[in-house]
Amino acid sequence: MKWDDCYLQLATAAAKEAGRIQMLHFGHSPLVEYKGQFNPVTEVDRLCEQAIVKMILDAYPDHDILTEESPFKGKGSSWKWIIDPLDGTTNYLHGYPCFCVSIGLEVEGEVRLGVVYNPILEEFFHVEKGKGAYLNGSRLSVSNTDKLERSFLCTGFPYDVREHVDLYLRYFGQFITKSFAIRRPGSAALDLSYLAAGRFDGFWELKLHAWDVAAGGLMVTEAGGRVSDFRGRPFNIYSEEILASNGIIHQEMLQAILEIEEKMRR
Ligand code: IPD
Ligand code: CA
Ligand code: CA
Repeated sequence: MKWDDCYLQLATAAAKEAGRIQMLHFGHSPLVEYKGQFNPVTEVDRLCEQAIVKMILDAYPDHDILTEESPFKGKGSSWKWIIDPLDGTTNYLHGYPCFCVSIGLEVEGEVRLGVVYNPILEEFFHVEKGKGAYLNGSRLSVSNTDKLERSFLCTGFPYDVREHVDLYLRYFGQFITKSFAIRRPGSAALDLSYLAAGRFDGFWELKLHAWDVAAGGLMVTEAGGRVSDFRGRPFNIYSEEILASNGIIHQEMLQAILEIEEKMRR
């Protein structure tokens, strides 16, 4: 077995286990707490996290783990698993069937593989650096939509939307008038995976975290798309901006963002 086969197998098994837990409790009003006023965390987020972390540490006790619901305690390993145990918690909490688990593996600062699993639709996305992105085993490629005005975009809003609503709505207003249509599904890892699958043509969001984008970002580039910051610079999973697209409309999306920023300076 090659080195990465065992990591992919582990990520797959952990994601499937988290999906099983999500399905077991779905629709049963899980216990919920709030991080701040509006950012929910349910018992299911925590159960999924515990299951995934245990499976990884049983196999690789020295690896680092960055996971949404626990403080990061780095051991200085070059191997870092980056986990969103339940992406789309607000949807989950309301019985809205759009959520997933996302697991990425960063090796020496580079994301090398990722899995995103939506247990409701039984859609399993996986990606390996240099080997492509797949949905249930079929290779993915981004759309070939070549104009922003024909593009189907998606986005999300950070939990601090109430404090910065004017700023976030400027981006939304710009893209809703320049694109064909926009959706706000509520799970960034699925948004990026759907972009890789050609279902969406472009995506932008502010203030996501590494666990939201580690697997999905690689999914987009391995499916032939492009991911950058709002200036077109290389994407960094720890940064505050993400612009992802099929690559063809990327320049038009960057130009649209530039126009917003120019208007704000006037
Ligand atoms: C959220 C989702 C949502 C995005 C938010 C994220 P969570 O993650 O990915 O689509 O708009 O910014 O925080 O809290 O459900 O894991
Ligand atoms: Ca998330
Ligand atoms: Ca989450």
